[in-house]
Amino acid sequence: MSVQHQPSHPALGHRSQPTAAGVYDWCLRGRHHLPCDADAAIAAQRLFPLAGRTAQYNRDFLRRAVRWLVTDGGIRQFLDIGSGYPTAGNVHEIARTHAPDTRVVYVDLDPDTVAVSNRLLAQDPDTVCLQGDLRDPDNIFGQPQIELLNLDQPIALLLVSVLPFVAGDATSLIRRYTTRLARGSYLAITHITPPEDERTRRQQAELAKTYNAVVQQTAHLRTRDQITDLFAGTELIHPGLVRATDWQPPQGYQPDLSDQAAAVILGGVARIP
Ligand SMILES: C[S@@+](CC[C@H](N)C(=O)[O-])C[C@H]1O[C@@H](n2cnc3c(N)ncnc32)[C@H](O)[C@@H]1O
Repeated sequence: MSVQHQPSHPALGHRSQPTAAGVYDWCLRGRHHLPCDADAAIAAQRLFPLAGRTAQYNRDFLRRAVRWLVTDGGIRQFLDIGSGYPTAGNVHEIARTHAPDTRVVYVDLDPDTVAVSNRLLAQDPDTVCLQGDLRDPDNIFGQPQIELLNLDQPIALLLVSVLPFVAGDATSLIRRYTTRLARGSYLAITHITPPEDERTRRQQAELAKTYNAVVQQTAHLRTRDQITDLFAGTELIHPGLVRATDWQPPQGYQPDLSDQAAAVILGGVARIP
């Protein structure tokens, strides 16, 4: 069990219900969570002890993918849906270390997460967070804040650890985004998947149930084949859809095939032709 990290950021305001962003921040050992988030996260860790490491692997993937998109993909604009809090080494922070002119539109379903994000981003004219539901692309593209992005130019669409909150046919939903984007745009996805190990599988199912209760959302697992389908009509770049830890890892990285926390989170980046 990890120690309880002390939250401290004034942008958080007050609330007594945990949010997915707050729980996730606790897992990342960030400073942007309240005691109710910590309690929910600790309860989740108890059921699924790998939760913290999985969250960290997911965020590490996000950082490496953003760096690649800026340095190799030439991307200067990001649409990050299901963004959580824009903290702890998030998209604009990573991108700007390589390209200071990068613009980012963050989108989250949760109004409190959006309010906190906008307080944190208040001094940054090239970054904004809007409230929107991934399942409703027309609403997201219809909001005025989206004009921060020039959709005639390539962008990167980030769907990182958010698609589990979409039931049913997520492939068609993703197409409703990619068909609006300029050629040469990119799509980055991470997704939780059931592990082969039976004990981890049971723990993960328990967590999914509790998670539903604490943040009032249902998390859906998808198999590797189902996650591969999400990239239909795009061109996966090297190394394809892999464990998030194995996607363009740092030099000297040695894959640990027995790491169940790594086995449950897959990631990939694709070019939109
Ligand atoms: C696990 S966090 C992921 C944060 C960030 N993308 C990352 O991977 O580091 C998931 C976020 O998705 C948001 N979310 C859940 N369902 C959503 C939906 N239908 N549309 C937009 N955001 C959603 C939650 O509020 C939460 O902040």
